[in-house]
Amino acid sequence: MKNERSEDPSEDPVVITPCPNGPLLVRGDVLIAPEPGAEPQKPPRRVVALCRCNMSSIAPFCDGSHKLANFRTRPPRYNIGSPREDAGEED
Ligand code: FES
Repeated sequence: MKNERSEDPSEDPVVITPCPNGPLLVRGDVLIAPEPGAEPQKPPRRVVALCRCNMSSIAPFCDGSHKLANFRTRPPRYNIGSPREDAGEED
């Protein structure tokens, strides 16, 4: 059983998963600054859901309000490896 964390982040990377019509799931050892300039803090769990609908009462975390708000995301339009590919395009 592996209990010790690797010193090499490439061996145990943080994974961010955008949930369709919902939050960003962040899995791994991260620090989160609740707002620009704030002191980064360790989140309560190793997997956290970060709100991206701006409706959560516990921001920056998701409280499920996106469902009531009928928040909708667009499908990704770019490769994760080159996110600036469509920069400058307008909807
Ligand atoms: S994404 Fe869930 S409350 Fe905003």
